[in-house]
Amino acid sequence: MGNYPPKFYFRLFKLHLKINGLRWTLYFSIRHFLVELLRFIEKRTRRLEKKYDLPGSNSVMENALKWNHYRWARGEDEWNQSIEWKTSVIEDVMLKNILPDRVVLEIGPGYGRWTRKLIEISDRLIVVDVTDKCITHCIDEFGDNTNVEFHVNDGRSLPFISDRSVDFVWSFDVFVHIEPPDIECYLQEFRRILKPGGLVIIHHGVIGKTDFGWRSSLTLQVFSDLLEKHDFTLVEQFNSWGENNEYALAGSDMISIFKRA
Ligand SMILES: C[S@@+](CC[C@H](N)C(=O)[O-])C[C@H]1O[C@@H](n2cnc3c(N)ncnc32)[C@H](O)[C@@H]1O
Repeated sequence: MGNYPPKFYFRLFKLHLKINGLRWTLYFSIRHFLVELLRFIEKRTRRLEKKYDLPGSNSVMENALKWNHYRWARGEDEWNQSIEWKTSVIEDVMLKNILPDRVVLEIGPGYGRWTRKLIEISDRLIVVDVTDKCITHCIDEFGDNTNVEFHVNDGRSLPFISDRSVDFVWSFDVFVHIEPPDIECYLQEFRRILKPGGLVIIHHGVIGKTDFGWRSSLTLQVFSDLLEKHDFTLVEQFNSWGENNEYALAGSDMISIFKRA
């Protein structure tokens, strides 16, 4: 907007009137005004969050509230792009990285989209969620298996897991919703609970808050800085996979795979 003097907008308005008519010009002008207004409000909101260190719309408390009230209309398969897509996540992402018969931690199972397979391949699976509704559902669904345990946590710590006891951490569609300070708490915990060489496979956001899917303010730069600060080695980072990269994450999200030294 700042690149043009006000008289340009007046002339543009007149041109639009002449070539597109009154109704089109009104709709177009109102739309343009609303888009600029939204940008302004967005900027101001972020500025307030920064200035007063506000948790914004992705605090642990808000995540717990949100997912406790979520309807889960499609049960565990709520966010699948297709059956093939889910199978490809399991085969090309999960099974390529998580070795069988190990100790695995899943953060944020929801209604258990990945939990079913993780139970099948793990010697022991620890399932943790901030939302008691999800854990209650997972217990009803998977509680008969003797190799799985369930915990509701505070959204950032894992005090019930002992040091150097876990081989793999899996978390899909969860860290996209978590703010960097809480992600940092989890990274500290991963360092503590992972065995040396233990691997973390995490789906997360990279461009900060967007209108899409309630993303947190996490950016790729902040995520890389956190990994470096907590001494993790990045193994792989991608947002599409498959023989011809035919499967992908929604939006600009990424999957990062990183290792404890
Ligand atoms: C979009 S659902 C994804 C569920 C499942 N992982 C899937 O892919 O279908 C997000 C899940 O993350 C959980 N969650 C959100 N923030 C969390 C946090 N800070 N710690 C643990 N779980 C969290 C929610 O309760 C919910 O179960």
